Amino acid sequence: MRFGILASGSGSNMEAIAQAIDGQGLKGEIGIVIYNEPGAYVQHRAAVRRIPVVHLNHRDFGSREALDHQLMKVLNAHGVDLVLMAGWMRVVTPVLIDGFPERILNIHPSLLPSFRGMHAIQQALDYGVKITGCTVHVVVPDVDAGRILAQAAVPILPDDTPHSLRLRIQSQEHRIYPEAIADYQQHLSQSHVLS
Ligand code: GRF
Repeated sequence: MRFGILASGSGSNMEAIAQAIDGQGLKGEIGIVIYNEPGAYVQHRAAVRRIPVVHLNHRDFGSREALDHQLMKVLNAHGVDLVLMAGWMRVVTPVLIDGFPERILNIHPSLLPSFRGMHAIQQALDYGVKITGCTVHVVVPDVDAGRILAQAAVPILPDDTPHSLRLRIQSQEHRIYPEAIADYQQHLSQSHVLS
């Protein structure tokens, strides 16, 4: 199975997925990393691993749909089977979702359905919850709303800052995302046999 990773930032989840492949906990290969923010550190991580990288700056496109049409072209040109959003800070449209039905996963830094959308970690701190976490889910047109595949809980400590909490959530993300992808591969292969 060939993965296409969409990322906007540091790429630590991309790195965790690549390490899971190295360690054979996850079968497949990363065929392409697409990033949108110029200078995003994910491009360096991908380059070190000699993974092909494409930069699509969303500011160069007139609409979300236009960006997603280009994403489709690049993903298909690289033979991608499963799209993994790993810190992709753009809302995706039916152009992409219908192009990869049930084949797009996302990781979100909260226990969904709490704290959807941007700034989930700050939202959790502002609300004063004592436990937050992260969620892997299937991507559907509603933001942060698809079927939940895996979650991990992370306690919020009295002296937590957004930074300290983010680090603890991300260490759980790096554990559950590769595991959830492997489980989802099983699910996809079984649905294929049954259909
Ligand atoms: C992750 O915390 C993820 O939950 C959120 O964006 C962050 C991406 O981090 N959607 P990285 O680029 O994988 O380091």
